[in-house]
Amino acid sequence: MTIRSKLPTVGTTIFTVMSRLAAEHGAINLSQGFPNYEVDQRLKDLVNHYVQRGFNQYAPMTGVPELREAIARKKEIVYGASLDPDREITVTNGATEAIYGAIAALIHPGDEVIIFEPAYDSYGPAIRLSGGKVVPFRLLSPDYRIDWAAVRQRVTDRTRMIIINSPHNPTGTTLKSADLEALRTIVAGTDILILSDEVYQHLIFDGERHESILRYPDLYQRAIVTMSFGKTFHATGWRIGYAIAPPVLTEEIRKVHQFNTFSINRPLQHALADYLAEPDHYLQLADFFQRKRDLFAAAMQDTPFEMLHSSGTYFMLARYRDLPALDDQAFARWLTRERGVAVIPMSSFYSDETDEKIIRFCFAKTDDLLLEAANQLKRRS
Ligand SMILES: Cc1ncc(COP(=O)(O)O)c(C=O)c1O
Repeated sequence: MTIRSKLPTVGTTIFTVMSRLAAEHGAINLSQGFPNYEVDQRLKDLVNHYVQRGFNQYAPMTGVPELREAIARKKEIVYGASLDPDREITVTNGATEAIYGAIAALIHPGDEVIIFEPAYDSYGPAIRLSGGKVVPFRLLSPDYRIDWAAVRQRVTDRTRMIIINSPHNPTGTTLKSADLEALRTIVAGTDILILSDEVYQHLIFDGERHESILRYPDLYQRAIVTMSFGKTFHATGWRIGYAIAPPVLTEEIRKVHQFNTFSINRPLQHALADYLAEPDHYLQLADFFQRKRDLFAAAMQDTPFEMLHSSGTYFMLARYRDLPALDDQAFARWLTRERGVAVIPMSSFYSDETDEKIIRFCFAKTDDLLLEAANQLKRRS
């Protein structure tokens, strides 16, 4: 039998590969983006409560109303946005499903989608599965800015979507209001949609304001915003996220969602709805992660790595010039085997696998584990 793969170049993601290698070598896993500490007991109790009370059958296709209303209230508090929970919010299986659903619903064969590399790895395959063409733009070194003038020149009448991601995985950079102004001038008068991947919305440091698309009502009219409770409440395994989009776009996204997952884990949705009633549960996250960022950056001073600044997310990049002159993929494996710390090689985020001799650390870990990792990476004579 001959199988014609729709994604012939796709293999197992580097996140799975490095986590597996970390387990094999008993290494500290700072590769894949997930916390090693527990979900808040109160949230776990709420889940238990709803399971015990029998909230165990199908949830409504769009998400339980209590959760969609709680999300709308949260967006009002954080961004001053006024959303209709019935027509603009859809609960999904993590942000991954929200991203996939938006692309599957709105990208047609031949449509071009602009993405910025290094990029999170789910965008490209989702675009290609819909018959779309990925148009990758490289972020400008050394601070990984978007070259908006270059983007403007590359826009054609086939350009259907621009995907932005702030705070940005893997670089830890953030978009500023000037970026959104530049984006506004590019999309004005076109049919270009914006997919704004904002899963790290609360992980933004040094008092910086998160420039969500939800703060820009005119841009929001052509946007899909994707977010994730996995990142916000340290529960990446729960697989709950959501897509926010104006009614005409939401209608299309729900057509795909309906036949992809139909509906999402019900007791978790009720628990999250209750938990969101207390804004402190998400408003304290920036301080929580900023402290971890600072602790890890300080501990890494005694190592041969040159740490790059992280303004958001729970990732930090590092150059490894003085270490073995291996390409970043080989270096990440070497580091796992020889120093007992697993990381992600940055070339994995480029479609042409550009090697900048940079690796990504995840600092969503307990302080003792971060200190132990830094200790294992200390300079050796
Ligand atoms: C930039 C970005 N977008 C989307 C996702 C997917 O989020 P979820 O785990 O909710 O599917 C991730 C997860 O790592 C991410 O880093």
